[in-house]
Amino acid sequence: MREFRVPSVVLTGSGSATGVGAVLRSRGYRHAFVVSDPGVLAVGSVAMALERLRGAGLAVTVFDAIPSEPTVRMIDAALAAYRASGADVVVGLGGGSPMDSAKGVAILAGGVEPLPAYEGADKVPPRATPLVCIATTAGTGSEVTRYLAATDEARDRKMLISSWEVLPDIAVVDPDLTLGLPPRYTVSTGIDALTHAVEAYVSKRAQPLSDSLALSAIRRIGGSLRTAYREPDNPEARAEMSLAALEAGIAFCNASVALVHGMARPLGAYFNVPHGLANAVLLARVSAFSAPAAPARYRDVALALGGAGASPEDGARLAAETIADLCRDLEVPSLGGLGVPRHRFDEVVMQMAADAIASGSPANNPRTATAEEIVALYQACY
Ligand SMILES: NC(=O)c1ccc[n+]([C@@H]2O[C@H](COP(=O)([O-])OP(=O)(O)OC[C@H]3O[C@@H](n4cnc5c(N)ncnc54)[C@H](O)[C@@H]3O)[C@@H](O)[C@H]2O)c1
Ligand SMILES: [Fe+2]
Repeated sequence: MREFRVPSVVLTGSGSATGVGAVLRSRGYRHAFVVSDPGVLAVGSVAMALERLRGAGLAVTVFDAIPSEPTVRMIDAALAAYRASGADVVVGLGGGSPMDSAKGVAILAGGVEPLPAYEGADKVPPRATPLVCIATTAGTGSEVTRYLAATDEARDRKMLISSWEVLPDIAVVDPDLTLGLPPRYTVSTGIDALTHAVEAYVSKRAQPLSDSLALSAIRRIGGSLRTAYREPDNPEARAEMSLAALEAGIAFCNASVALVHGMARPLGAYFNVPHGLANAVLLARVSAFSAPAAPARYRDVALALGGAGASPEDGARLAAETIADLCRDLEVPSLGGLGVPRHRFDEVVMQMAADAIASGSPANNPRTATAEEIVALYQACY
């Protein structure tokens, strides 16, 4: 038996964010607590969507202090503001950071435990607080996933919480909100979405429903990410990337991620490399490592991404080349190019490999990687 879940309402399309207020009113909500960050709120289309929430007759309280990667302390501050506000629905508005923070507020609202108590799989008690996520990057797919990632400053580690209680009730993916997203975020969040789709498709936990969405996402990304990078205001490219990130999010929520994500998290923890960028730095080389274990699957990936001309036996090579070409066109840097200090990198690389394995994600990879092989992959990406 396979299980497949999505939020009960998914609103998509240009203008959909301006319709959320009416949907919330029709469900009887009166007061929205919006979790966001200042960069997001400065975007004209986002400010307009927020105005429309008010226009629909909802009271709106905005908490805009989410840093670029969420922390336990900041989520606690948002929770206190939520409780003080008297709101009856939590709305995450932004990229993965505000959406994950909103998830934290919603799961903590009814209980007494601190967020770290829920680290790991299926530890979150039933959630009563309604949760809406509106994506402004394309993207993490957090609006349709059961995951929440946050840094616990007390233990200096990035926690992953995985539970169906984290899955939002309503997801909104309006490409208008991503128009003008700066190129560096277009690349990091776009490659994050590509990594979700590729890893969901090659995951040992892939299932037919996630396969269809993953391949569709890869096709859209192959056809539109370069354009969205070069032409930030191109509405067709933004629409395709928004749908791709949504499909990829649903796919990996139901099929898991694998080695790339397992290796990306320690780069965030030790060197503050943002999540999407960490995946971008790793994706091509890790795919080249993994592809020989699943050449037919990787050939599908390569063809969906726009690669052509290889025999079925040559799928692994084609996939590695097609992904590397895309990363080159998008000017994805190396770890050294990102400014990760060499001596510190050498000091912690063995521990990063151990942390990657301990996260569990590499166990879903089609090719099992030893700690030594993971160290060699990190070195190759430096
Ligand atoms: N829950 C999940 O399933 C899941 C999946 C992947 C990643 N994540 C998490 O998501 C976080 C990263 O999210 P992200 O990559 O979306 O970045 P982000 O939310 O940290 O945003 C990055 C920057 O982009 C800006 N920004 C966002 N939308 C914009 C817009 N439309 N125009 C201009 N600027 C805009 C923000 O102000 C911020 O400065 C990480 O913490 C990661 O762990 C969660
Ligand atoms: Fe991701």
